[in-house]
Amino acid sequence: MAKEMLSNEISRVKFNPIIMNASGAKCTYEDELKKLAASDTGAVVLKSTTVEPRKGNPKPKYWDNEFGSINSNGLENLGYKKTAEMADMLAKEFRKPVIPSIAGLHYEDYLTMAEELGKTKAAALEINLSCPNIPGKPQVAYDSLQSKKVLEKVRELTNKPLFIKLPPYLELIHQDEILEILLEADVQALILINSVANTLSIDAEKEQATILPKKGLGGLGGKFIKPVALGQVWSFHNKMKEKGKEIPIIGVGGIYSGTDAFEFLLAGASAVQVGTAYYQEEGKIFRRLKEELMDLLEAKNYKNVKEVIGKLKTIEER
Ligand code: DHB
Repeated sequence: MAKEMLSNEISRVKFNPIIMNASGAKCTYEDELKKLAASDTGAVVLKSTTVEPRKGNPKPKYWDNEFGSINSNGLENLGYKKTAEMADMLAKEFRKPVIPSIAGLHYEDYLTMAEELGKTKAAALEINLSCPNIPGKPQVAYDSLQSKKVLEKVRELTNKPLFIKLPPYLELIHQDEILEILLEADVQALILINSVANTLSIDAEKEQATILPKKGLGGLGGKFIKPVALGQVWSFHNKMKEKGKEIPIIGVGGIYSGTDAFEFLLAGASAVQVGTAYYQEEGKIFRRLKEELMDLLEAKNYKNVKEVIGKLKTIEER
């Protein structure tokens, strides 16, 4: 098995393998992060942080089954100062990229956190514009002018590669609108997609919502959302190709197998992340996914993941 088969670079950040965790699941506390970093994950992405530490929303705030999950964590985290410390510790102890994630509750928060986390040994910063679970705080990414303002100012405050975490845009003109801003901003990757916001699961026997916050509404992940995520990756990939300016995409949403990861590569992703399936299977999932993807590439005579990116064929009209 070739050592570099699953490797790729995004803005000088080397991922080997290109399979890593998604921010959110089991990446908030030091013990979780050390376990994650010691696994075969290609990078360590930290839970989105806020300026102040937060306990997050009241429990129960997570539900899952074999098809996926609904979460309304509410940004439970240790605050950006502790996050910066943990990022430096991880970068020192483990030889893989460390990516803190920031989620401001206010415009200024993004600036404060980007500046400080920009001084750490982090390989890149995730700018999360799409947290759906804070009552009264709409997702920044659905406000293109606000997104533009955040991205422009953050870029002035740090030289780190910026990876932008986005929600799904189900209408194509909304994709065009945000893409115009992303292509003008100096950003190095798009992470597509965050959980699908404001979904509901019901315990029919109890006649009750399965989670407590926001009257039961939370962000959907896992197998439920793979076609949504693939659609976003494929659409953004094609739109950028047409414009001749391609920001690399990191695909996320319903990856449970090597074949799932392969599908995201075909649709245009340069790397992939695993959220719900990592929550369910824990760190050992990364070795399994690596092996499955490697076997699949070998069986199909690909030498490297790079050969697969965006190679999806569409069915020709007759
Ligand atoms: C939370 C959920 C998200 O999908 C996200 O992007 C950030 C935070 C949360 O509820 O903590």
